[in-house]
Amino acid sequence: MDTASKQIEDYILQHIDEEPAILKRVTHDTNLYTLKPRMLSGHLQGRMLKMFCNMVSPKNILEIGTFTGYSGLCMAESLTEGGILHTIEVNDEMEEFLDRVFSESEYADKIQLHIGDAVKIIPELDVVFDVAFIDGNKRHYVDYFNVVYPKMRVGGIMIADNTLWDAHVLEEDTKDAQTLGIKRFNDMIAADDRVEKVIVPIRDGMTIIRKVR
Ligand SMILES: C[S@@+](CC[C@H](N)C(=O)[O-])C[C@H]1O[C@@H](n2cnc3c(N)ncnc32)[C@H](O)[C@@H]1O
Repeated sequence: MDTASKQIEDYILQHIDEEPAILKRVTHDTNLYTLKPRMLSGHLQGRMLKMFCNMVSPKNILEIGTFTGYSGLCMAESLTEGGILHTIEVNDEMEEFLDRVFSESEYADKIQLHIGDAVKIIPELDVVFDVAFIDGNKRHYVDYFNVVYPKMRVGGIMIADNTLWDAHVLEEDTKDAQTLGIKRFNDMIAADDRVEKVIVPIRDGMTIIRKVR
């Protein structure tokens, strides 16, 4: 990040809501204990996720890709009475870390962690979702959307992260599997008239998708 962008980011962070203390601890522990701490959403994106969720007043939220729990905790802040966050993580080595983080949270009884592949788990969930956050393996975004869409209520919001993939989506003849996965997803969503969609160029790109039928 160049100096001007860093200064703007610092300015933004000084002028938006603070992160709750638990999220500062999650960020600290993610840096200490994981190999790819940059996967964590972070302060700005986390507050945006909470804001988007609050606009929908969700009862049920779905997340693909829990990682260390940061984005899930942000979205759990917006759950209405009796609401549940179903968050799915395929890496079972994260289970102990996540059990500790979620049990320390004031939303512990509203968070259901599923360990396994989201593509297999989601069809088995008997839940209608108001919000879904897609943040798993970039190669499989099309598969995620295809299992998530039928579980969404009409008017529900799906948020897909990293949809600009550090501008690699502009590469015409890429062979990189993650870039190809994101490009396939973006093309599919662009052509799908069952959903409204907009790409927000925050961080690595977030696509906001609303199910209209
Ligand atoms: C970018 S990280 C998620 C970051 C997290 N949502 C946050 O913002 O703090 C992606 C996570 O998705 C998980 N993942 C990859 N494929 C998955 C799948 N098929 N089902 C569930 N989780 C998956 C990875 O193990 C990784 O922890």
